[in-house]
Amino acid sequence: MIRAAVLVSGGGTNLQALLDAKAAGKLPEVEFVCVVGNRRKAYGLERARMAGIEAIYLPTVRFETNEAYNIALRDLLLEKKIDLIVLAGFLVVLGQTMVDAFPNRIINIHPSLIPSFCGDGFYGLKVHEEALRRGVKVTGATVHFVDGGTDTGPIILQKAVEILPEDTPESLQLRVMQQAEWKLLPEAVRLFSEGKLIVEDGRVREI
Ligand code: GAR
Repeated sequence: MIRAAVLVSGGGTNLQALLDAKAAGKLPEVEFVCVVGNRRKAYGLERARMAGIEAIYLPTVRFETNEAYNIALRDLLLEKKIDLIVLAGFLVVLGQTMVDAFPNRIINIHPSLIPSFCGDGFYGLKVHEEALRRGVKVTGATVHFVDGGTDTGPIILQKAVEILPEDTPESLQLRVMQQAEWKLLPEAVRLFSEGKLIVEDGRVREI
């Protein structure tokens, strides 16, 4: 059994997909120990409470620097003996402090096919706005391990989603979530929990 923490900043629909997978018996090797949110209004914290999981509000505004926040987060998650950290729409940049404490133990979901539409400034709806602006015909989602960069870590799973001529950023965001994100994230967590993900030369191999 692995001990997992999920980090959220917003609505928490990806967290919900994980909780639903757990309730459906699809993640037998995972215990969700806590959910951490950096915004008081992050609905993900409420979803955690409703599922009977400890919801921890750790506000970014309480810390003077990103590094101070990273240290507090690291200490909290070490104290809780967390094996896997899932960034499910967590919009705080994690620095080397966190990556060093949890090497290849932090995974992130990003709403595009990395390396397209990723990196600094690409998050949430902005990713879909940019995909539509650029006129790409296919987008998708990626789950990857977190390294010291922004969206640069080893890729675990990807799934493509078609863009339709009538799409708005909002309709595209919803379809990427429904067709890709809510499936990929529980699947990546399952593979990790079963020890099936090996990182070699900066790439993930599934065993
Ligand atoms: C999701 O689309 C996730 O991929 C994205 O934020 C949204 C959170 O939704 N993450 C990023 O853009 C990270 N760069 P949720 O709170 O409903 O899961």
